Amino acid sequence: MKAIALTRYLPISDPESLQDVELPKPVAAGHDVLVRVEAVSVNPVDTKIRSPKPQVEAQPKVLGYDAAGVVEAVGENVTLFKPGDEVYYAGDVTRSGSDAQFQPVDERLIGRKPTTLDFAQAAALPLTAITAWELLFERMPFSIDAEHNDKTLLIIGGAGGVGSIAIQLARRAGFTVIATASRKESIDWCLSLGAQHVIDHRQPLAPQLAALGHAQVDAALNLADTDRYWGTLGEILAPQGHVGLIVEPSGPLKIGDPYKAKCIGIHWEMMFARARFRTPDMIEQHRILTRLASLIDAGELRTTHTETIGAINAANLRETHRRLESGTTIGKLVLAGW
Ligand SMILES: NC(=O)c1ccc[n+]([C@@H]2O[C@H](COP(=O)([O-])OP(=O)(O)OC[C@H]3O[C@@H](n4cnc5c(N)ncnc54)[C@H](OP(=O)(O)O)[C@@H]3O)[C@@H](O)[C@H]2O)c1
Repeated sequence: MKAIALTRYLPISDPESLQDVELPKPVAAGHDVLVRVEAVSVNPVDTKIRSPKPQVEAQPKVLGYDAAGVVEAVGENVTLFKPGDEVYYAGDVTRSGSDAQFQPVDERLIGRKPTTLDFAQAAALPLTAITAWELLFERMPFSIDAEHNDKTLLIIGGAGGVGSIAIQLARRAGFTVIATASRKESIDWCLSLGAQHVIDHRQPLAPQLAALGHAQVDAALNLADTDRYWGTLGEILAPQGHVGLIVEPSGPLKIGDPYKAKCIGIHWEMMFARARFRTPDMIEQHRILTRLASLIDAGELRTTHTETIGAINAANLRETHRRLESGTTIGKLVLAGW
């Protein structure tokens, strides 16, 4: 089968950083389904894993943790899917990735693809949607089905992959959403997704919030830079508020006052934790993707796909990594077809 892989960890400008390769077609066993991959998306986890270092892989390493495709075969323990089903998933960062024509994936991490989306539109969603969903509705004390109409949520990094679906989920749950974005295109995108207000993360946040009449917010998602906004968030979060984090800090975080004085809940999300540690509840990701698909098919949420770069090959994947490394992408970039 065709795949895109690395053996060395090189700058993305190097044509050998990601290369077209031929690999044996995998088989499905146990709880795995074998998916024929039709479209993939790229996330910062891909570029972080691929980042330059002296390490060399003995075997080609396939990245890619967002895909949509068709079930080709099922393992002997599979009960949720059958050949021919159209699916979408993020998968498991500890296994070979989705930048390949065929990929074995544990059925408990897979959802039925929304019927109203094509493969490219569906591939944009799984990793970022699971992240935003688990953070808001499983780590933080909120619910997609509750009416949080009296609550204000600040989303730092609103136009990125995670922010683009977090804005929509938070609006669905009734929050007043204040997103951050720094450019006209990213501001317009956040507003189009439903954010009621957008402030600029290149400027101090507190005065902008005060000018909106929200000097304090009930909750915040820091989806961009944990260190940079930590001090500010301690100031602007209301007593008994909650902060959600998804980015590794560069060093220790000061979790004492004002966080302690205000009794602020600090919540970490790591969307690969369930797959990596094979937690007994890993089927929750199947349930999240299933519910997400029904909300999309009902017209309550929309895809965050913004651009299909081209077919799935090394040249297009390098271009997508390059664009993502710029830190300025809006929504999700996708590759589709082989
Ligand atoms: N823990 C987990 O489970 C998990 C899951 C997914 C992602 N992540 C991590 O979360 C981060 C965001 O992921 P993503 O997919 O949303 O990234 P992304 O799509 O690459 O985010 C791009 C956006 O980030 C915004 N941005 C750039 N610098 C910023 C800053 N200093 N402050 C606020 N926003 C800034 C840009 O907005 P403007 O152009 O408007 O400036 C741009 O639209 C990454 O570090 C990723 O590795 C963690």
